[in-house]
Amino acid sequence: MMNPTQGTSDEGRSGMGHARDPQPTDGAHATRAHDTVAQQAEPEDRALLIEDLRQELDDTNRGLIALHTELETARRAEARLAAIVASSDDAMISVDPVLRIQTWNPGAGRLLGHTEQHLVGQKIDTLMPGPALDAFQAAVEQIRSHGHADSHQSRWRRADDTVVDVAVTVSAMRDADGALIGYSTTARDITHQLAAQTELTTARADREVLAERDRIARDLHDLVIQRLFASGLTLQSALARLTGPTQGIERVERVMNDLDDTIKTIRTTIYALRETHCGQDGRLRTKLLAECEQATEPLGFAPALRMDGLLETRVPGHIADHLLAVLREALSNTARHARATVVDVSIEVTDTSVRLTVADNGRGIDPAVTRSSGLSNLRTRAQELGGTFSLTPNQPHGAILDFSTPLPADG
Ligand SMILES: Nc1ncnc2c1ncn2[C@@H]1O[C@H](COP(=O)(O)OP(=O)(O)OP(=O)(O)O)[C@@H](O)[C@H]1O
Ligand SMILES: [Mg+2]
Repeated sequence: MMNPTQGTSDEGRSGMGHARDPQPTDGAHATRAHDTVAQQAEPEDRALLIEDLRQELDDTNRGLIALHTELETARRAEARLAAIVASSDDAMISVDPVLRIQTWNPGAGRLLGHTEQHLVGQKIDTLMPGPALDAFQAAVEQIRSHGHADSHQSRWRRADDTVVDVAVTVSAMRDADGALIGYSTTARDITHQLAAQTELTTARADREVLAERDRIARDLHDLVIQRLFASGLTLQSALARLTGPTQGIERVERVMNDLDDTIKTIRTTIYALRETHCGQDGRLRTKLLAECEQATEPLGFAPALRMDGLLETRVPGHIADHLLAVLREALSNTARHARATVVDVSIEVTDTSVRLTVADNGRGIDPAVTRSSGLSNLRTRAQELGGTFSLTPNQPHGAILDFSTPLPADG
């Protein structure tokens, strides 16, 4: 028969250590009481009592192990949480119910420039100018009345008295019985997001203005100038048939001159409207024109240039730079290799892409030529932009270079 002080297993032994304690606990008292009863009882009863005792000790032991596991899990979770708080870039601060700072993570130190020792015990007002404090107190009120608060945008004060834009969340901290013991607050630096937002808003507004200017310029050119021009022609033919006093003829001639002047003024206005920014150093249209003009001498003739769509507003600077480089190489190739008499350059901007084609009527690409550094550069440029590049035969002869690239979404 087993002596109860020996235990039934390793677990049993560890669970029964207190039975040998010189200052016995209640459990040890119970064990001794059982022992005494077991010694006085009949052998069968004693066996039953010992078995009961063993069961009891086993149960206690299992309970202790379960408790230990639970505590260990809680300890690990707490350690994980502490690691998150310590390593976070966000400021995490806890305050008591009257908004005195209690704890403060390293992120808060980095964001606000204070040290923890300096701030613990101080009111949270230290970190915020008036409006920010109002917003914080409103969040606390919201928690008191509704149990939670929406996050809000705010401006907190740093140790050096500068301010930082932050997104703030406030939550209630409660004890195991659900009683409010304070508030935890997280503040995230949103300086960069706000700057990006402002930039985006300005860029959108700029682009809208530019698009509108492009549209007005187009309308002036396509509608107003053409109509004035037609009126001028009508007057001219009327003038040819006009007989009678020279006074009348002179008047018509004056009107025609006025029309000419008006057309000139409108053309200047169109130019000014389109003289919008394409980077610091000029607009894309002007630069494309300049590239074509520069190629006139080596080619021996001027290439024809067609431009369609919102070149100034839809083509970002970096894509504009690629287009200019591609056009330069294409015109240089045509001048050096094609022996052409006609070159058509076309730039077409749609909502989603920009396409540049340079078509010549020269001798075409010699299939025997394998050397290609200029062209492979153009291919790389297209790949970089997620676009396409090709140099194919033109009909009836010559070559067409086609460079096309998607444009960033308009929005
Ligand atoms: N428009 C064209 N007409 C006829 N042949 C062309 C035309 N464009 C290019 N080629 C042919 O393709 C070859 C490769 O062109 P690529 O621009 O890669 O090299 P390159 O002009 O000879 O030299 P690089 O550009 O490095 O100074 C040229 O050598 C030429 O034979
Ligand atoms: Mg070349």
